[in-house]
Amino acid sequence: MVLGGTRGIGRACCLDLTRAGATVVVTGRSAENAHAVVHDVRAGGGEATAAVHDLSDVDATARTIDEAYAVHGRLDGLVANAGMNPYFVRPEKVTTEEWDTSMGVNLRGVFFAVQAAARHMLATGGGSVVTMSSVTAQRGTLRGLPYVAAKGGVDAMTRTLAVEWADRGMRVNAVAPGYVETDLTEGLRHHESLREMVLRKVPAGRFGTVEEIAALVTFLVSDASAYITGQVLTADGGFAVA
Ligand SMILES: NC(=O)c1ccc[n+]([C@@H]2O[C@H](COP(=O)([O-])OP(=O)(O)OC[C@H]3O[C@@H](n4cnc5c(N)ncnc54)[C@H](OP(=O)(O)O)[C@@H]3O)[C@@H](O)[C@H]2O)c1
Repeated sequence: MVLGGTRGIGRACCLDLTRAGATVVVTGRSAENAHAVVHDVRAGGGEATAAVHDLSDVDATARTIDEAYAVHGRLDGLVANAGMNPYFVRPEKVTTEEWDTSMGVNLRGVFFAVQAAARHMLATGGGSVVTMSSVTAQRGTLRGLPYVAAKGGVDAMTRTLAVEWADRGMRVNAVAPGYVETDLTEGLRHHESLREMVLRKVPAGRFGTVEEIAALVTFLVSDASAYITGQVLTADGGFAVA
């Protein structure tokens, strides 16, 4: 199941996972985009179904996960990819509404979705959970505090869940992308001076592609990573270590 599979990195995960043989449930708020991804998966010879929910609605998300489990009869992997970062704001100006909205999707929503999925997975021998962090949680970053704080929470949550569930067949890892070509970075990529400022900080000298992130997710979902748990795998063109 790929939460936030309707666009960007999540969409690429749906395509890559189904090419690797998985049947995928594509979720997001947009039914139209979810069905478009299902169409694209099927055009490539894979199998997928669509489900619609808002991650900030914990009960609706749990219902969506329960219904998908009932339809498919098993759940081997959860990719908790959905996330948002609409605020470009100095810390001294962050409002409680901005903080709560960001946390509500990027951390609270992610945790309770993982919890809902894990109830099924733990009851049937375990599986693999992949959360979507961000390299910004590893570095100080300008104007993104509510988002970065949530992603730092995702890292800590990922390690803690890995320890909690390792003896029950469950692995929990995170992928931390750097700057990737998606809707999320569209404003940044099309603003000349911001784009140049970012690229100066990335030793690889370019933005990442969604396919490069999806390949890591498929690896972490698959048995090829059977002895890896509690890790945050960073894919950032060298940004974090420069
Ligand atoms: N792009 C980057 O450079 C970058 C870097 C580091 C980390 N990330 C992380 O990677 C993940 C994917 O980012 P992206 O760049 O692919 O973003 P994107 O293109 O904006 O796609 C975001 C996805 O999340 C879903 N989503 C957003 N809010 C949701 C909500 N409230 N409920 C349910 N689904 C929701 C969207 O689906 P709907 O529109 O259908 O709701 C969409 O499928 C995010 O967690 C992001 O923080 C991205």
